[in-house]
Amino acid sequence: MADPRYESFPEGFFARLDETDDQQFYAQPRLVTHIDDRAIEAAGRVYSELGLHGQILDVCGSWISHFAPPPDALVVQGMNVGELRENTAAVGGVVADLNRSPALPFASRSFDGASCCVSVDYLNRPLEVFDEVARVLRPGAIWVHVFSNRLFPTKAIQGWRMSSDDEHMSIVAKYFALSSGWDEASASIVLPPGSGGDPLYAVWASRSS
Ligand SMILES: C[S@@+](CC[C@H](N)C(=O)[O-])C[C@H]1O[C@@H](n2cnc3c(N)ncnc32)[C@H](O)[C@@H]1O
Repeated sequence: MADPRYESFPEGFFARLDETDDQQFYAQPRLVTHIDDRAIEAAGRVYSELGLHGQILDVCGSWISHFAPPPDALVVQGMNVGELRENTAAVGGVVADLNRSPALPFASRSFDGASCCVSVDYLNRPLEVFDEVARVLRPGAIWVHVFSNRLFPTKAIQGWRMSSDDEHMSIVAKYFALSSGWDEASASIVLPPGSGGDPLYAVWASRSS
């Protein structure tokens, strides 16, 4: 049955140029960085400033998770087992295609926080994923999205590709507002465009109690 929460998005918002199985696209490990060193450092700073410590889930992760220092117990969800095995900051990794099923194999209220770096634009059923991340977080725990202005264009949703960086912050805040279990989102331009490298934006919200 269609989820009425999606009615406020224009038609085609979640369409992608490449609608083939995501598992094909992510079959080969990409041991690369998707943002420059300055933005990686800034992402780590955002995580620290928001107090992402303890048991942390990195959603849409890969071989690096940008925490400095790494949290006590970092678990990474991603698409490629080879990438997850290379993530030396993590104590565990799970491969899960969240566009196929949003279900995360974790007990409710098992994490103290969550991150998602440069990846929210690949989710084509984001509200279910946001519901699910809320489920696995403890009350008060923060989920922070950081993103820049780079992407895999064929796999990003059309609504993101057609929007400005400022609009991207509104899109993520809207996902938090329309899904279940979140307090009001906050947003910040961490590294403005034109400041000498990749820009960085952050949008986050706390798991409501
Ligand atoms: C640009 S990479 C970013 C990786 C990592 N967060 C980083 O900062 O380097 C995009 C990531 O989105 C995740 N992703 C893409 N499609 C996905 C899907 N259908 N389900 C779950 N994760 C997905 C994959 O883990 C992929 O590595």
